[in-house]
Amino acid sequence: MPAFDFDRPIPRLGTHCAKWDSLAARFGAHAAGALPMWVADMEFAAPPAVTEALRAAVEHGVHGYYGDPSGYIAAIRGWMKRRHGWDVEPGWILTTAGIVNGVNLALQAYCRPGDGVILQQPIYHPFAPSVQANGCHVVGNLLAYEDGRYRMDLDALAKAVDARTRMLILCSPHNPCGRVWTREELTAIAEFCLERGILIVSDEIHHDLVFDGPHTVMASLSPEIAARTVTFTSSSKTFNLAGGHTGNAIISDPELRRLFHRQMERCGMLTGNRFGYLMAEAAYAEGDEWLDALLAYLRANRDMVDRFAAERLKGVRSVKLDATYLAWLDFSGTGMAEPEIVRRFEREAKVICNHGSSFGPGGAGFMRLNFACPRPMLEEALGRIESAFSDLQ
Ligand SMILES: Cc1ncc(COP(=O)(O)O)c(C=O)c1O
Repeated sequence: MPAFDFDRPIPRLGTHCAKWDSLAARFGAHAAGALPMWVADMEFAAPPAVTEALRAAVEHGVHGYYGDPSGYIAAIRGWMKRRHGWDVEPGWILTTAGIVNGVNLALQAYCRPGDGVILQQPIYHPFAPSVQANGCHVVGNLLAYEDGRYRMDLDALAKAVDARTRMLILCSPHNPCGRVWTREELTAIAEFCLERGILIVSDEIHHDLVFDGPHTVMASLSPEIAARTVTFTSSSKTFNLAGGHTGNAIISDPELRRLFHRQMERCGMLTGNRFGYLMAEAAYAEGDEWLDALLAYLRANRDMVDRFAAERLKGVRSVKLDATYLAWLDFSGTGMAEPEIVRRFEREAKVICNHGSSFGPGGAGFMRLNFACPRPMLEEALGRIESAFSDLQ
């Protein structure tokens, strides 16, 4: 019996679970009996230490304001040092209500209406609306896609930026392309930004979910880069705690930190979610073994999806993921337009994935499939997809 049982199905319907309980509202009647493989949370129970921390809180029964974050801060610092070789000072860490919240605070703290913000597309879909909601515009920079692999295109970026380009929102590792950016790639984009006075917001939320790395913390590259970088990390993706909406903004530069903190004050963010802190501390302090077991399980799921696409879906390519549990399936070789691909997924296979076009330019013709689920569920989903595309055989 393995120490952690990721094969165990855990029913989530009726638990106020966005992934399962908003299927009908989001995807319509076709969702009945569907397998949700879209939004990025996992079908697995959190590490036992997290459940124990919550159990203790529930048994205590008083759920007032949270205070004394010293254990929580120590747990984050220990994790960053152990898993990422990064020394984080206690004072650098600010707590946000998740990373989308943090990115929006960064836009408000550092940009003025009319500024340009670089997004390397296709990219995590809430970024573009966040940029626009804060009065800025997206400076789109398509990732180059060659032989099933993505790379940054700095030549095209040089042509796209201008004097009002203020910020890069970097996704590292990248969702949905699955790339772990190398040291060289990160150094090149950082130098590009530093030369032009562009601030780097480095969303590293997927940094623990790496199969082929290593992941490099952008801010660890040099003091000069750190001074122009705001880093976001979170226990939410790593340990499946997304409902806790608690993220880390790690900012070593005092002036950047002051501006960010001022924006938090303006939003009345004086204290965070008690349960988020408790879960994050327990996970970071005691979650190593669980994460190592999870990564082995996810790697096997990733390989299963890759084999499936290569052997059983003609014209479909599963982009090789260095990181994340979000398969990025390229249907362009089938010659089908997205509405037809989506129709087959949602109406025939009844497997609900994110549509490629929702990730912006470069996304159409792809489907993003979340394989962080028990293997029998993944097998069932892949079998259904195979039947829906049986004419490709
Ligand atoms: C790159 C990236 N950033 C942020 C988030 C969401 O973070 P949060 O739920 O903490 O806002 C996700 C979730 O999938 C993500 O992929």
